[in-house]
Amino acid sequence: MSRRHRIKPLNQSELPPLIAEKTRSPVAIILGSPSEVIHALESLPGIEATCFQMDVFQGERLRAELAEAGLVANVVLAADLWDLPGTFQTVLFMPARGGERELKIDMVDQAYHVLRQGGLFLVWSPYQTDDLFTGLLKKVFGKVHTPPHDSGMDTTTLLWSVRAGEQPRRRHELTFQVKIGDGPSCRFLSRPGTFSYGKFDLGARALCEVMQVEPGDRVLDLGCGVGTNGVFASQKAGENGFISFVDSNHRAIALTELNAKANGVAKFETFASSTVTGPQEDSFDVVIANPPYFANNSIAQLFIHRAKAMMTPQGRFYLVTRQPEESGAAILDTFGEAEAVEHRGYTIVCA
Ligand SMILES: C[S@@+](CC[C@H](N)C(=O)[O-])C[C@H]1O[C@@H](n2cnc3c(N)ncnc32)[C@H](O)[C@@H]1O
Repeated sequence: MSRRHRIKPLNQSELPPLIAEKTRSPVAIILGSPSEVIHALESLPGIEATCFQMDVFQGERLRAELAEAGLVANVVLAADLWDLPGTFQTVLFMPARGGERELKIDMVDQAYHVLRQGGLFLVWSPYQTDDLFTGLLKKVFGKVHTPPHDSGMDTTTLLWSVRAGEQPRRRHELTFQVKIGDGPSCRFLSRPGTFSYGKFDLGARALCEVMQVEPGDRVLDLGCGVGTNGVFASQKAGENGFISFVDSNHRAIALTELNAKANGVAKFETFASSTVTGPQEDSFDVVIANPPYFANNSIAQLFIHRAKAMMTPQGRFYLVTRQPEESGAAILDTFGEAEAVEHRGYTIVCA
């Protein structure tokens, strides 16, 4: 016989009492939205917690919302969970529903290395998920435990494993090779949680083929991902050029640094920022952007607004989009005039 029940968003679901019973300080909480993390912390009173986040925007929102809720927790922004000290007694992972599978695998692998011997790894989701975690925990930790069948938790996912022994670090990464026109071929390293894992985005290619960069130009790559577009801009800017890379994701910035060096970018700087702060304002000849579409186009709006502040009066701005109406209107509002180039199914708005 089937049973029906309403699925609540994770952040409204009660944390199973078993989690509070099993959790020991210090605990690391992996990723999660601010409301999910706060909800979990409220169910774990008195716990000493470190919240790992990769994205500056999410991390800073979490810090602000923790302060508002009167909760104390350490928020660490980094490219890798396993760079935290391996001293945690508990690691709690509340995976995003439908989130990137490769990132989930990467986080489980990294969690192993931040647990002390005998430490506990917990996966909790109010949804009945696929078999990914059962097999994965078995593979990484050797054994996986679930609540008893009569515990009433058969519509949710709660799994745990204990760290015992040593395992080598498993890195999840893919490299891809790209060539633009008759320029040299470049190799890029990418990792889960960054755009776009393992392949060169077609919109990015369209942007790189259309942008005009002159020798000696100062170029700003806004929302640089793993740095592909800025690297291709540097091929045109040459050794007297300069590339500034900005992204809100710490892992993206770490990869950009590797990719810029590996592909011979002569002079560059990187900033992990969610507000496009860090690079020198009024100084760029070219600004390039391939903004994300989530958050109601608000990131595109931010990029457009900040691009204007970053550019010299003669500077050129190139933004690639599949939503030319919204972005085009915002660019016109900000810059006064703009033109659009259709290429490879994308629109590159130039101002
Ligand atoms: C569509 S991806 C483009 C990545 C890369 N430029 C490319 O074309 O392949 C958008 C990038 O913007 C970054 N991003 C999102 N919000 C941001 C913000 N507020 N500030 C800076 N970067 C942001 C994301 O982390 C992501 O790397």
